[in-house]
Amino acid sequence: MRRAAITGVGYYLPEDRMTNAELETLVDTSNEWIISRTGIHERRILRDPEKATSYMATRAARNLLEKKNISPDEIDLIIVGTVTPDMVFPATACLVQAELGATNAWGFDLSAACSGFLYALSTGAQFITSGTYKKVLVIGADKMSAIIDYTDRTTCILFGDGAGAVLLEPDDSGVGIVDSLLQMDGTKPDLLCMLAGGSRRPASHETVDARQHYVYQEGRSVFKYAVKGMADAAASVMERNGLTGDDVAYLVPHQANLRIIDATANRMEIDTDKVMLNISRYGNTTAATIPLCLSDWEHKLRTGDNLILAAFGGGFTWGATYVKWAYDGSQYEIPEHLRSEMAHS
Ligand code: ACO
Repeated sequence: MRRAAITGVGYYLPEDRMTNAELETLVDTSNEWIISRTGIHERRILRDPEKATSYMATRAARNLLEKKNISPDEIDLIIVGTVTPDMVFPATACLVQAELGATNAWGFDLSAACSGFLYALSTGAQFITSGTYKKVLVIGADKMSAIIDYTDRTTCILFGDGAGAVLLEPDDSGVGIVDSLLQMDGTKPDLLCMLAGGSRRPASHETVDARQHYVYQEGRSVFKYAVKGMADAAASVMERNGLTGDDVAYLVPHQANLRIIDATANRMEIDTDKVMLNISRYGNTTAATIPLCLSDWEHKLRTGDNLILAAFGGGFTWGATYVKWAYDGSQYEIPEHLRSEMAHS
């Protein structure tokens, strides 16, 4: 049986860090509040105004292709999960295709907020299992700092910038994407959204004055839906595939809030040491959190490891995906930025 297997991962993180101490100078908040309510210590920010999401997405893809020694012209399809495209159109995927030199690829952007990577992964996998393509790049990339209001303490502490990429290839040895449960409830779009800049409320002096080009979130309500959505989806995927907590090597959760992740892990009955966590370092990078986790943990992953990927985001969109890992990650070195962090800790 042919499955779509993740055969490589890559990442890009901007060098600049925004610490909780810096946020204390911008809004009425504290390091203690941010850590206890979210688990975030710092985030990466792409401060260069000339650089946007495609810059990070291309670098994540290039990191992957160089590691795998694959030429960009071998790529058939590029899907970019993002809510911060460089422009409304053309798609960020077009810009990535050009900068990467993926001359034989077509592609598109996929908008599903924090579930963008899971939705894109599942979409890309269909082109592999159908036999249509051999190499699909799935990228999650967001320059959240471009749409964050740094005078709003309820949102500005949460988000960071980054990009992660995976390569999907066909495999018939039993590994790969086994199952996906993707869901949506579009009845509450106003709880987490960017009000203006689309066709409903095009940019105007009024929308700018009303600060409607920034992320708006009713955090407490979203929190309740996120805890239930992520935990339910992860538990359902485990149940319908006959998996118990002991069978799962890692939970790979979207990194929105440490408390949401803990609730999901509890429901799955898995130990905390089997939960991929990097929210303390990068905050919520929206579509990039899950591939950034895979990249950070790649060196620890082994062929056949059972992973449950789970996400919840604006829309609402949410879901969980069961992946049997396809290769021995020990052949790859620990990413440079993690080595220096380990040396400092
Ligand atoms: N510093 C200090 N105090 C703050 C801050 C801050 N940065 N932000 C809010 N507060 C205050 C509030 O004003 C409130 O004060 P009050 O009680 O006097 O009114 C108090 O802290 C508690 O506020 P809550 O909003 O209830 O805090 P909560 O514990 O819910 O944490 C948070 C807020 C972190 C946003 C949480 O609700 C959350 O994580 N929500 C879900 C986020 C999520 O999963 N989003 C989906 C993915 S994102 C995407 O799709 C783009």
